[in-house]
Amino acid sequence: MDRNLALEVVRVTEAAALACSRLMGRGDRDGADRLAVEAMRRAFETVRVRGTVVIGEGERDEAPMLYIGEQVGTGWKLAGDAPDVPRVDIAVDPLEGTNLCATGSPGAIAVIALAQDGQFLNAPDTYMDKIAVGPESRGAIDITKSPTENLHRIAEAKRSRVEDLCAIILDRPRHAELIAEVRKAGARIRLIGDGDVSAAISTCSAETGIDVLFGIGGAPEGVIAAAALRCVGGDMQGRLKWRSTEERERGRKMGIVEDDRIYKLEDLAQGDVMFAATGVTDGAFLKGVHYFGGGARTESIVMRSASGTTRMIDSTHHFDKKPNYSWLTGIGDN
Ligand code: FBP
Repeated sequence: MDRNLALEVVRVTEAAALACSRLMGRGDRDGADRLAVEAMRRAFETVRVRGTVVIGEGERDEAPMLYIGEQVGTGWKLAGDAPDVPRVDIAVDPLEGTNLCATGSPGAIAVIALAQDGQFLNAPDTYMDKIAVGPESRGAIDITKSPTENLHRIAEAKRSRVEDLCAIILDRPRHAELIAEVRKAGARIRLIGDGDVSAAISTCSAETGIDVLFGIGGAPEGVIAAAALRCVGGDMQGRLKWRSTEERERGRKMGIVEDDRIYKLEDLAQGDVMFAATGVTDGAFLKGVHYFGGGARTESIVMRSASGTTRMIDSTHHFDKKPNYSWLTGIGDN
């Protein structure tokens, strides 16, 4: 994949963040999500790829846009094979942390990941049990083992004690046993309300003080997090958790035959991958959208697995100079 594509893609996450941040703290989860999805889709109309959404806003019958299987990018409008136009798999979460945006809480982001054609896990919008760690603990984790054993392995890899470790876990009733076990093992915990993509990435930076992500979250978020961890040298394993037989059936139609398959990092996101995210609300990972008269500032991160380069992009947007983006200037003036 052309390295400049990563910079093209950040425009897509910026557009989504700019659009949905208009509804920050206004209690409208669905409205904010819709604005992010619409903005992302429109922004894709300027990206020269033949992209297929493999993980997105649900499935065709339930999501009007950016659904699994949807084709995006200008490449599809070209006649013939267009061999110079990259075919890419796309995993999107236009607003990761809809509750966070709706309540103005820290950590909502707009996020996208790209891989070469066929390189992302293609799964329905279901749940995934996940364990994610940073580069120092790469190779030490095994999701088939207990959290306690994983904590001991991570401690050994980091030459520290379990008591020194901090696990990040989504605060959900389904995690009661997991939380109890991690506490019993002696590790510390940061419970979060939402946002396990940022949480997985936080394991890769010493500054965050987070050593491991445990627990069940969205499968799309799992694939997106895997793409990010591929870029920064972290590690992750996942196991799909179906919420219904109907979801299981959808999975079968997408070619998932093995119920308890363990997906290693490269099974989730293989080959050359790119990751881009823009902050919606201020968070530890990224600053949110800050408006000024006639414009806004955004902060984004772009990463590529091929080079391992991480770029932070601080952009100033002047809405009067973006005639094609008039829909970003405020709610209702598209
Ligand atoms: P959305 O904003 O896309 O709803 O996701 C927020 C999130 O917290 C994810 O980070 C996480 O993977 C998922 O929800 C967990 O799902 P649930 O809220 O159903 O436990």
